[in-house]
Amino acid sequence: MNKEVVVVIGVGGIGQAIARRQGAGKTVLLADINEDTLASAAGELRSMGHTITTQRVDVSVRESVAALANSAAGLGSVTQVITTAGLSPVQASPSAILAVDLLGVALVLEEFGRVIASGGAGIVISSMAGHMLPPLSPEQNEALAYTPADDLLKLTFLAADGVPNSGAAYGISKRANHLRVQAAGIDWGERGARVNSISPGIILTPLAEEEMAGPGGPRYREMIQASPAGRVGTTDEIASAAAYLLGPDAGFITGSDLLIDGGVIAAIRSGRL
Ligand SMILES: NC(=O)c1ccc[n+]([C@@H]2O[C@H](COP(=O)([O-])OP(=O)(O)OC[C@H]3O[C@@H](n4cnc5c(N)ncnc54)[C@H](O)[C@@H]3O)[C@@H](O)[C@H]2O)c1
Repeated sequence: MNKEVVVVIGVGGIGQAIARRQGAGKTVLLADINEDTLASAAGELRSMGHTITTQRVDVSVRESVAALANSAAGLGSVTQVITTAGLSPVQASPSAILAVDLLGVALVLEEFGRVIASGGAGIVISSMAGHMLPPLSPEQNEALAYTPADDLLKLTFLAADGVPNSGAAYGISKRANHLRVQAAGIDWGERGARVNSISPGIILTPLAEEEMAGPGGPRYREMIQASPAGRVGTTDEIASAAAYLLGPDAGFITGSDLLIDGGVIAAIRSGRL
C-alpha cells in the first residue's frame, strides 16, 4: 500500500495540534530544529496511537529542507505539508527572523513543491502581523513573491536599515509568506496540489506566552481586550481551520490566506485599537 504522508515542520504548540488532528491512519513525519521538542512531540503523539517518524531540520538551510522533502517522498505519497517553524520578535534578532520566517517558508514551498502529491495540499502558518504592515510598493510585493529563494535575503529593502528591529522583521516576513504562498499556488497547481496560509492572532502557546511576558505584553493585552472575541485563541481552533483548508471541502481554495485573529485586525482598522 502506498502510505499517505503528512509532514509537519515546526512541532511547537500549533504544529503538534495540527499533527494530532491530521495524523490518524497516516505516516506523520515531524521535523523541527530542536531535538528535544521533536522527541517530546513524537512521544506524545505515539502515545495517542499515531505513526511517527522524525527528522531534524533547519528551515533556513536549503540542503536541510531538501533532505527532509526527499525523506518524506521516500516514506510514501506526500499528501499534506504543514510548516509552522518560526521565531517570534522576543526570541531572535532581525536577521534570524528573516532567515527562518521569510527564507525558511520560501525554501519549504520550493522543496516540497517538488514532491507534493497530486491532490495534496499545504499550509504555511503566517501571522496577523503580516496584516498589520502598511502596504508595500508593487515592486516590493513582486520581489517578495517571485525572487528565487536563494536571492531573497539579498533584496535591498531587507537590509539592516530597512528592517531595524525584530518586530519589523517579523511583520515583513509574515507579509512575505502571504505573497509567497499566492505565487506558489501556481507551481503547486501544476502538480494538481493546493497551498494556503493561515494568519493566527494570539494563540496560547509557549511562543505567545514568551511574547506576552516581554516588552510587548501590555500591547498584546490591549489587543485581546479591544478585539470582538475578547480572548486568546487556542491551537485546536487553528488545527480545525487547517483541517478544512487541507481537505476536500477547500478544493477551490489555493494561494489564499485565512486570518484567524478574533477580530484584532478589524479592531485596529476601525480605530478602536
Ligand atoms: N502562538 C501565536 O500566538 C502565534 C501567532 C501568530 C503566528 N504564529 C506563528 O505560528 C507558528 C508556530 O508558532 P507556535 O506558537 O506553535 O510556536 P512554537 O515556538 O511553539 O513553535 C515553533 C517551532 O518552530 C521551531 N523552529 C524554530 N526555528 C526553526 C528552524 N530554523 N527550523 C525548524 N524549526 C524551527 C521551534 O523549535 C518550535 O518548535 C510560528 O511561525 C509563529 O510565528 C504564532
